[in-house]
Amino acid sequence: MAGLIPQDFIDDLVARADIVEVIGRRVQLKKAGREFKACCPFHDEKTPSFTVSPAKGFYHCFGCGAHGTALGFLMEYDHMDFPEAVESLAQTMGVEVPRNESDRPSRRYDELFSLTGKVEKDWQRALKDSPAAIEYLKKRGIDGATASRFGLGYAPDGWSNVLDRYGKSDEAIDRLLATGLVIRKDNGRHYDRFRDRLMFPIRDARGRTIGFGGRTLGDGEPKYLNSPETVLFHKGRELYGLWEARQALRSIDRLVVVEGYMDVVALARNGIDFAVATLGTATTGDHLNRLFRLTEDVAFCFDGDRAGSKAAWRALETALPHVREGRQIRFVFLPDGEDPDSFVNANGADAFVKAVDDGIALSDFLIAELSAQVDLGTVDGRARLAELAKPLVSKVPAGVYRDLLLDSLADTVGLTSERLERSLGNAEERQSPGARRATALRRKVASTGRPSVVRRAITLLLNNPHAGDKLDVEKLAGIRRPGIDLLHRLIETVQHEPNITTAGLLERWRHDEEGRHLGKLAASEVPDGDDFDAAAELDECLNQLVAAGRRDRVDFLIEKQRVGSLDEEELAELRELR
Ligand code: UTP
Ligand code: MN
Repeated sequence: MAGLIPQDFIDDLVARADIVEVIGRRVQLKKAGREFKACCPFHDEKTPSFTVSPAKGFYHCFGCGAHGTALGFLMEYDHMDFPEAVESLAQTMGVEVPRNESDRPSRRYDELFSLTGKVEKDWQRALKDSPAAIEYLKKRGIDGATASRFGLGYAPDGWSNVLDRYGKSDEAIDRLLATGLVIRKDNGRHYDRFRDRLMFPIRDARGRTIGFGGRTLGDGEPKYLNSPETVLFHKGRELYGLWEARQALRSIDRLVVVEGYMDVVALARNGIDFAVATLGTATTGDHLNRLFRLTEDVAFCFDGDRAGSKAAWRALETALPHVREGRQIRFVFLPDGEDPDSFVNANGADAFVKAVDDGIALSDFLIAELSAQVDLGTVDGRARLAELAKPLVSKVPAGVYRDLLLDSLADTVGLTSERLERSLGNAEERQSPGARRATALRRKVASTGRPSVVRRAITLLLNNPHAGDKLDVEKLAGIRRPGIDLLHRLIETVQHEPNITTAGLLERWRHDEEGRHLGKLAASEVPDGDDFDAAAELDECLNQLVAAGRRDRVDFLIEKQRVGSLDEEELAELRELR
């Protein structure tokens, strides 16, 4: 991974970037008052609901909800990852990205990419000269056009083809080692990793070759040999075929995740361009982030064997934190003994697409798997099902999807959703009735007691970072309420960074779970006329929070007193507060 990019550089870059120029170079923008409008590049529409605010450094689509900063736009639109977007933005602004490392990794990366690119080309030429490799591809039904789309090649037999050609100095050998193309022996000598194999280049989001998979033409072991983890290649993040899919498709409506290189290539050969493969690893959260950045519709397709269904369950567990309303996640199981390659070649593209369409929805798969583990005919079995579901449901973000999942589960165990939810609730609530009532009360206060004040404060602050300059954050100490820590940290940030913009704040929280909703809040309408005093509004929000915090505390103490358990100190506190 590239050296860490200093935060103040990112702050500054985002503050100075002209988001209208960045987006305007890719999408035709029309001025509309202080903002700019366009038809949204992220969904189909006839009337423009995509809005760019130069003042906030922020874009937002009222149609599909897409939003972000200049960096976010580059990531979404040009399909870059974060360091790439920073690099690209810096380049257009004519500045160089500083790294916290002494050597300049970006130059080094360029050298490594150039090396993998050259080797890839050599192997493509070698394929044309290898009757055995051509024969193998033919046998597997891969035509020349597909082979060249995926850059397939052949690494000839021999221990030092790559080494001899590209390893003429110590530095050159270091580069070969860094890309994983060459292996160092204990005695200090080196040899080529890939020999006599059909080669599949693995490309990153920009189409650069970061690693390879190599298949034996016969039945040598291992069947597939892959590049090791290197500075360029992280298996847990890359998806084989994603770049090729993006090249082939104008818009990506859906993606299906399969297990093997050959599956992706064979599907493409049959006209199915939306398949990608994990690289011999389980699906990771990073994979899912990548997938859902491109589409709302993701299917996992597994071989029809035991290993396949185990892999599917693991994928389900990883996917739970990513489910949202509007996202489709499906699981497809092929007949026993088939993989997508054999299936599509035997049954054709339409049959494969149908199999994907008929895939089982995540919630149904979850319930079916758990139901199979218990006896639903008994009360114990149903209780056990609820027990098994608990850790899984808790991974699903609260929202419509989770409610629907709870409904289906409730249906299965024969409880109302409310009762099920209660039985899924945390153990703390199963303490004494008094403690339980106190908790419930705290909850009720927390949820009905104007959580919108925190939300409103955050929204105001995001839209007018300088309004927070003079706030007294100390006031918030001790108040417990959803989002209050985030508000606290936001205020501290704007006070430390007097030049920070809306976009800068969003970038600060880019990698933060809690900050996920900030983009939406930054996009919400706030009054901004000349007579609107955001600082005063914010201060008022803080005062309301302080007052509400005090009321919460009083209510809590009264309830606790009612169940008979206030100590001296709490009694004194209650008297003082009332
Ligand atoms: P499979 O064993 O299912 O192979 O491995 P496949 O994709 O059907 O390959 P063919 O059809 O026999 O050519 C699935 C994936 O697991 C990884 C590879 O990424 C492969 O595509 N794998 C498998 C390895 O890394 N090494 C191996 O030895 C086998
Ligand atoms: Mn196969």
